Amino acid sequence: MSYSNDKEYKRIVKEILRNSEFKKMYYIEHHGISRWEHLLKISYYSYKIAKKIKLDYVSVARGALLHDFYLDGDERSKKRKFLDTFSHPKKALKTSLDNFTLNEIEQNIIISHMYPIYPVIPKFKESILVDIVDKIIGGHEMLREYKCKFKYRFNYLFVLLMIFIIN
Ligand SMILES: [Fe+2]
Ligand SMILES: [Fe+2]
Repeated sequence: MSYSNDKEYKRIVKEILRNSEFKKMYYIEHHGISRWEHLLKISYYSYKIAKKIKLDYVSVARGALLHDFYLDGDERSKKRKFLDTFSHPKKALKTSLDNFTLNEIEQNIIISHMYPIYPVIPKFKESILVDIVDKIIGGHEMLREYKCKFKYRFNYLFVLLMIFIIN
């Protein structure tokens, strides 16, 4: 599913995609891909579903696109990254409000997207939708990332073993 031919979607998210802070998402790694790609995926899937089931798809597209909009990346320690799992909705809402004017639904989508890990309840159907889409797609991305890491480690051990046997 590609957003690039969807004129209406592109019009809705234009302001966000053009923002210089948001463009930094392109260089931050997230679940083995760029955070930019993750955000666009969640936003576009949620937007398509919201349109079909007649929700506020404009707020869904915008809120979902900003749900992980925070600037911390690979420079963080493993411990910090882990702790951010529990606190990043707050950071994402702050970065979003520093850069854009958001309505109540968009703000709630961002702050509640990690419910119940982060204890803010989704107040709108739009927030519940983005929460579910993020958990499904994010879960799939994480699984793929760990599978790759496991495969890499296995290959590395195999090469070491071969060197040991040959010697
Ligand atoms: Fe998140
Ligand atoms: Fe996410």
